Amino acid sequence: MGFYADQVFPRLMDWIMRAPRFQELRRQVLAPARGHVLEIGFGTGLNLPHYPKSVTWLTAVDPANFPNALVEKQTMAGSIPVKLVRLSAETLPFESGQFDWAVSTWTLCTISDPVAALREVRRVLKPGGQFIFLEHGRSDDPKILKWQNRLNPLQRVVACGCNLNRSIDALIRQAGLTIIQLERFQMDGVPRVAGSMYRGIATPHRPIITETLSSGRYRPIAPGAPGSGTV
Ligand SMILES: C[S@@+](CC[C@H](N)C(=O)[O-])C[C@H]1O[C@@H](n2cnc3c(N)ncnc32)[C@H](O)[C@@H]1O
Repeated sequence: MGFYADQVFPRLMDWIMRAPRFQELRRQVLAPARGHVLEIGFGTGLNLPHYPKSVTWLTAVDPANFPNALVEKQTMAGSIPVKLVRLSAETLPFESGQFDWAVSTWTLCTISDPVAALREVRRVLKPGGQFIFLEHGRSDDPKILKWQNRLNPLQRVVACGCNLNRSIDALIRQAGLTIIQLERFQMDGVPRVAGSMYRGIATPHRPIITETLSSGRYRPIAPGAPGSGTV
């Protein structure tokens, strides 16, 4: 990949993203995780100290070959057993329906095909599983969005493939996941172009929306197709 991508960027990213304001967000968003967790885009492992004790096993994927010293420092520090696999999240070598929770923090901005990766997350989650996301992306403010679009080509080079202007919630829905919690906020101490945050939880199953008929029976209506369904 080159000296900058392999040696300089990982250290820079690790230094910026271990600041207390990032750590606090990690702690909050990871609190509900339980059981066997899949993390996509492990980076240098900055989420590890923030997983609760209810997490029994962590499987993590990331294609980057970050310096061992940076990653090991984190994996050795945690108490959860970690299996780190060096591959892209777009094609996961895991059986369907095996993870209790999945996690992505500041990663959907960088994955080349985020919808493919999210489809894989949906596939490998158990039916009752949940997907935690904490991501920066497209701003709702047209003035900020204009700057995000302008700066995106530069950001992709400087931050090794990171995009400023992805609609994170739209990508999650496009992959067939159902968002059950979504919070939008501006991150403190981060330039507005990179601090428009999406935090929430999505599930692999679709809710069944019903309407009650005059007969007292229920009619399921497929999401997105009002009026369809069978009695
Ligand atoms: C900004 S870093 C965030 C790292 C980490 N999630 C965190 O919160 O500190 C983005 C990460 O996404 C990883 N990444 C890029 N493409 C990926 C892919 N196709 N599948 C999985 N991870 C990927 C990068 O290698 C990098 O570690």
